[in-house]
Amino acid sequence: MSELSDSATDEQIEAVRVRVLGRAGELTEIMRGMRNVPHEERPAMGQLVNQIKQQVETRIEQLKGALKQAELERSLAEQRIDVTLPGMSIRRGHIHPITQMLERMLDIFVSMGFEIEMTQDIEDDFHNFQALNFPPDHPAREMQDTFTVDDGSMLLRSHTSNGQIRVMEKRKPPLAVVCPGRCFRRDEVSVRSLPMFTQIEGFMVDEAGKVTLAHLKGVLSNFVRALFGADVAVRFRSSYFPFTEPSVEVDMSCVLCKGAGCRVCKHTGWTEILGAGMIHPNVLRAVKLDPEAYQGFAFGFGVERPALLKLAVNDMRLFVENDVRFLNQFPALSGGAQ
Ligand code: DAH
Repeated sequence: MSELSDSATDEQIEAVRVRVLGRAGELTEIMRGMRNVPHEERPAMGQLVNQIKQQVETRIEQLKGALKQAELERSLAEQRIDVTLPGMSIRRGHIHPITQMLERMLDIFVSMGFEIEMTQDIEDDFHNFQALNFPPDHPAREMQDTFTVDDGSMLLRSHTSNGQIRVMEKRKPPLAVVCPGRCFRRDEVSVRSLPMFTQIEGFMVDEAGKVTLAHLKGVLSNFVRALFGADVAVRFRSSYFPFTEPSVEVDMSCVLCKGAGCRVCKHTGWTEILGAGMIHPNVLRAVKLDPEAYQGFAFGFGVERPALLKLAVNDMRLFVENDVRFLNQFPALSGGAQ
């Protein structure tokens, strides 16, 4: 039994098991030899052999159990997970500052009951100009302003006002809709302009008398204050657009000098941010609505300009250069995406 010491290996134990208990093992041999043992000695002999067999079996089991336990402990110790190690940090992207700004603006309109509808970037002359009451020789139609596509039969929309036409062609009032999207103009890339930019067009149309210029003032004042703060002053100046009558431009008090006058507001104390007005009867006719029966307002504005003011950025080109050192400064403007 000395071979079955506490330090016996698996192989040693197995060797003993085969040699002693196996089919040709020592104890088996002794049992087979029993017939040569005198009759009267057989019971005592048998008992002794069984006793030994049991002892060997028990010892083997005990040793094997101990070995298994030791093996388990060893592998557990080896594979121990150090929960105090810092995790791997995964670099997460975030939403582009212009998209964040756009989403925040749209949220404000949605909170006032407007629906969002996307309309197309590649447009025909009718939806971008004609239906919006642009006279045939209007300067905005000229080639230097608008990108044309293919043979010139289509163009890249120069504003999101096509959204008014597209939506009213397929849906009847009452409507309160905002159409966000990209616009394109043959402009220089500069500190204050880009040939591709973002606009939001909005409009509200209902039976005549239900939607007035007063509602337009309310909606837009509320929008500007929700975006820039309740202390911002808003003013409406009369203006001209082919698709509205009367037309207005909306200014807000300069966020930098708070109306005192500075270089950014050209010492006026005001910044122009929106164009708007009551939808021109010809626009309603173009979408087969009777201007005697229906009436509404429309407004439109670029997202990049107010974004410059809101984010205190002084060069519009930064928005399209995709320099992560710039973009990382705006991880979550809206508190949404991180
Ligand atoms: N489409 C105009 C632009 O791109 C913006 C605009 C002005 C839209 C007045 C309107 C509006 O709906 O009523 O400059």
